[in-house]
Amino acid sequence: MTDTPILVSTEGRVGLIRLNRPAQLNALNDALMDALGAALLAFDADPGVGAIVITGSDKAFAAGADIAAMADWDYMDVYQSAFITRNWEAIRQVRKPVLAAVAGFALGGGCELALACDIVVAAESARFALPEIKLAMLPGAGGTQRLPRAIGKAKAMDMCLSARMLDAQEADRYGLVSRVVPDAELLDRTLALAAQIASFSLPALMAIKESVNRAWESSLTEGILFERRELYARFASADAHEGMQAFLDKRKPAFQHR
Ligand code: CAA
Repeated sequence: MTDTPILVSTEGRVGLIRLNRPAQLNALNDALMDALGAALLAFDADPGVGAIVITGSDKAFAAGADIAAMADWDYMDVYQSAFITRNWEAIRQVRKPVLAAVAGFALGGGCELALACDIVVAAESARFALPEIKLAMLPGAGGTQRLPRAIGKAKAMDMCLSARMLDAQEADRYGLVSRVVPDAELLDRTLALAAQIASFSLPALMAIKESVNRAWESSLTEGILFERRELYARFASADAHEGMQAFLDKRKPAFQHR
């Protein structure tokens, strides 16, 4: 089982990816990140999937990049092979909603992976930190960029410079996670949320995801312009007309994801 770095399944219109290196607390090595990227892109291309969930084990979502793998690398190794860029960033290409279901440790690259997801559902046991400073390293999978955007500079500096660990309630208060649920309900609640999301019109979901992501990467004026164009594009969608007509007819909409 541990030879397979991820386990992939589907439940209705939800694609589920479980990180599966329990003996290493799901430390993120190349084999795992290659497989994760391939699974994410395969679900993104599958018309039968409307949302994707990434989860780990009860003890760890992921304890970070694999320190044993990195320990002997030199600059040319990582520069020439485009470490992180070559496989971790596949998640940025995914247009469908991606949810993280986090129990236990989400440290370093594990926290950064959660930050790259669209919605983070945390179990009460979840613990978030960017402890790379303890290794004289740096949160290099988007942590120094996404964390301040998520929780603001003051909290992000504290986490990055002191390796401060947040529990689930703190992470919820600061805006690092979307919801906190009891551990025993984590997967069921996240899958139910993903199923609800996946029941909506896929092109509308993708337009909303793209628009919200614009808020991170552009000025308000540019973001509003982008949002307005996406709104106008809804009027070219069969699902939007179906959704509005179904409301007026007092019936459930039948979306075709077109
Ligand atoms: N890489 C490789 N192996 C790891 C690992 C990691 N990030 N995290 C844990 N493991 C391994 C341990 O070496 C140990 O293996 P052995 O049984 O073979 O010794 C096994 O997982 C269990 O770990 P512990 O015995 O340490 O478990 P614990 O409960 O005592 O402690 C922990 C848990 C606090 C998470 C501790 O394992 C820990 O501090 N891990 C490292 C966290 C870290 O520094 N992450 C950042 C990595 S750098 C990074 O992510 C860079 C980037 O931005 C891309």
